[in-house]
Amino acid sequence: MPDSQTRTHIAIAARNVTLSLGESGNQTQILKGIDLEIPLGQSVALLGPSGSGKSSLMAILSGLERATSGEVTVAGLDFGPMDEDGLAKARRGRIGIVLQAFHLLPTMTALENVAVPLELAGRDDPFGTAARELEAVGLGHRVTHYPSQLSGGEQQRVAIARAMAPGPDIIFADEPTGNLDGTTGDAIIDLLFGRQKASGATLLIITHDPALATHCDRVIEMRDGLIIADRAGGAA
Ligand SMILES: Nc1ncnc2c1ncn2[C@@H]1O[C@H](COP(=O)(O)OP(=O)(O)O)[C@@H](O)[C@H]1O
Ligand SMILES: [Mg+2]
Repeated sequence: MPDSQTRTHIAIAARNVTLSLGESGNQTQILKGIDLEIPLGQSVALLGPSGSGKSSLMAILSGLERATSGEVTVAGLDFGPMDEDGLAKARRGRIGIVLQAFHLLPTMTALENVAVPLELAGRDDPFGTAARELEAVGLGHRVTHYPSQLSGGEQQRVAIARAMAPGPDIIFADEPTGNLDGTTGDAIIDLLFGRQKASGATLLIITHDPALATHCDRVIEMRDGLIIADRAGGAA
């Protein structure tokens, strides 16, 4: 396959990525040389003990944080030379992020939480798109509710709708069920994978739940800032 074609079917590429944090002279190396390639459309579970660097790696791959060294190419864009503004622009429309703590804006309704980012990105019909996306996550009857009027599971559905609405190439989810009870969490996982399959997006999901690996094409395990295992998952 020609090189250009090879690149376009890769959603995420990291080469020798390191991350060091802390004052100079007293630095901690959080990521110690990560090499990773994830093809478009693949679903990947990222496992590993607390403190192993999973969230740090996701922050770099999703453009929320800059690597200390190494190469990061995501959705066809080289993150290396980009500053914070550049990364924010790169994320817009291409990358959807779902976090443990939902992060909805409390003064906005469910509909506004999904529509306003679309509006800011200059998309056509942001409120129509947002309404359809909330319908798709089973919240068509909750669009005028504020986050405080929604259960944890419902808030996470809004966050998933917000992440999916722009039609991103890649979805990053960091322990999306961490604040939910088991039954609610299972429903959120089914929803997330359902929306991923419907859209064809790449999904990288951090989880403490090894059972989730059965939903994924691939399972990557981290320990102490390094990838220590990379194998096929139950859905491969
Ligand atoms: N801002 C920071 N400054 C210094 N160390 C940090 C910072 N953020 C995270 N760490 C450390 O980096 C390591 C990896 O953290 P993290 O990526 O959150 O791991 P995980 O998501 O696997 O639990 C941990 O040892 C954590 O204490
Ligand atoms: Mg984490």
